[in-house]
Amino acid sequence: MKKLLITGLLAFVYACAAYKGVPSALTDRPEWKTLPLPATPQQLDGDPEAGLAFLIYGNYLGTGLPWRIVEKRFTKKVNDTLWQRNGPNAHAPYLMNVFEAANGVPVLNGNCFTCHAGAIQGQLIPGLGNSFSDYRRSFKPLADMTALGVSLRFGKRSPEWEAFEDFGRYFRKMSPHIRTGQPGANPAFRLAEACMMHRNAGDLSYSKEPLYDISPYPVATDVPPLWNVKKKNALYYDGIGRGDFTKLIFQASVLGITDSTAARQAVTGFKDVLAWLHALEPPKYPREIDPASAAQGRLIFEAKCSRCHGTYGDNPSYPNKVVSLDVVKTDPVYVNYIHQSGITQWYNSSWFAQSEPRSWFEPLPGYIAPPLDGLWATAPYLHNGSVPTLEALLNSPTRPLRWQRSGDSNDYDWENVGWKYTDAKKAKKKGWVYDTTLPGYGNQGHTFGDDLSREERKALIEYLKTL
Ligand code: HEC
Ligand code: HEC
Repeated sequence: MKKLLITGLLAFVYACAAYKGVPSALTDRPEWKTLPLPATPQQLDGDPEAGLAFLIYGNYLGTGLPWRIVEKRFTKKVNDTLWQRNGPNAHAPYLMNVFEAANGVPVLNGNCFTCHAGAIQGQLIPGLGNSFSDYRRSFKPLADMTALGVSLRFGKRSPEWEAFEDFGRYFRKMSPHIRTGQPGANPAFRLAEACMMHRNAGDLSYSKEPLYDISPYPVATDVPPLWNVKKKNALYYDGIGRGDFTKLIFQASVLGITDSTAARQAVTGFKDVLAWLHALEPPKYPREIDPASAAQGRLIFEAKCSRCHGTYGDNPSYPNKVVSLDVVKTDPVYVNYIHQSGITQWYNSSWFAQSEPRSWFEPLPGYIAPPLDGLWATAPYLHNGSVPTLEALLNSPTRPLRWQRSGDSNDYDWENVGWKYTDAKKAKKKGWVYDTTLPGYGNQGHTFGDDLSREERKALIEYLKTL
């Protein structure tokens, strides 16, 4: 009995700590049902090949870890099946770039494919979100050690320190904020918040004091596939990213870029990146599809799903709708969080919004109904990645409360489309368990498939494999 009481008390204390700072629901939510987002002018004259080269060789992160300090660890050629790069990059893993900082010192830093390449059956797919990342451990000790290591090895007056300093600063400032309580969830929004709050809005230079507060609650999301960008009028799960996409995407550089002078140079490369994004195609479903069943599924889709997700095939259309929380009813925490973040005001007064071409943040009270191209590959589903398979997404009572997957990209479930999982009710706390009872990670809502019969759902899934 006593043991039970203590366990109960501990669970309560743990729950209170975990819930600390969960953003409150929006009280003055504007009416927003199914309004389409308007298109804004984009710079579409880039070169896709140059865009990919920029992403995998480019200096958009500005600063990084001096290559000399890590070079020895990478002396063997890595088996980089994704890019087969040349020069020093032939020795770096696919998710890192070796490039020259402004003063000519070669440095190493993570590239976009840290988060934007995912594996299925051992094969990396560029543009697919990496749903296997794990930000539950703290990066703070690593950030502190790295700074100490560079200063001891080269001294703080060296060109190496100069090529490292900005990355070192932002890495240390942001690392306490990107820790999550959920495996697979990606804290990119928190990373941006934590870096930008230490940048002066006008010239993006470093500010030791934070310029706005950051919530203590570690919200995080799934990573969306990049081949859908070409259909979208606004970026990010809630459509907050508006205006010029090159500036929005360039934001990912806030971790290392020195200031707005460096930003102005690097952002031009993102015109080509945008062209690469427009050329990026979703992967084709690699197994057989039953054409009769898929044809039946298409009719169901067009009757029940197209008004939000658009049409596919010969006559594609995409309505670009942000669907109100009142309608989609999926976990509201991310939307609430973003509405209460200081980042919007900062962003809209910053270089990003105040110099041409402008981009800006406009938080909305709902989630974008995303394009469903390449859907078969993008499990887990919903903005928070809380649902492991399409079958479970379209039959909400069967969604698992706590689920565990092996971590092996061969464990794909071709029948239910998504990741094989085991119900982790009794799983040990350690290990990879997605817990939908944590705030922000709930699997509720989007019940639009619930009233289908088994056969109808099967046909619909067969059709969804063709997208
Ligand atoms: C730390 C992981 C991480 C890195 C590194 C990263 N991203 Fe992302 N990216 C995300 C996440 C998570 C989202 C979704 C955020 C949201 O919607 O709130 C996202 C969203 C996007 C989107 C919007 C997609 C959409 O459909 O709305 C684009 C485009 C994008 N990233 C491009 C890039 C590029 C280009 C780079 C490199 C310069 C990059 N990202 C670096 C994690 C990352
Ligand atoms: C009223 C608008 C609406 C209708 C109707 C609708 N959806 Fe959605 N759908 C959404 C929104 C909004 C989201 C994003 C919700 C979130 O991420 O929290 C979504 C997300 C999804 C996702 C997850 C995508 C991903 O990559 O995570 C799938 C799959 C999906 N819908 C399929 C369907 C199918 C199939 C139907 C028809 C049975 C349907 N939807 C009907 C609005 C709608």
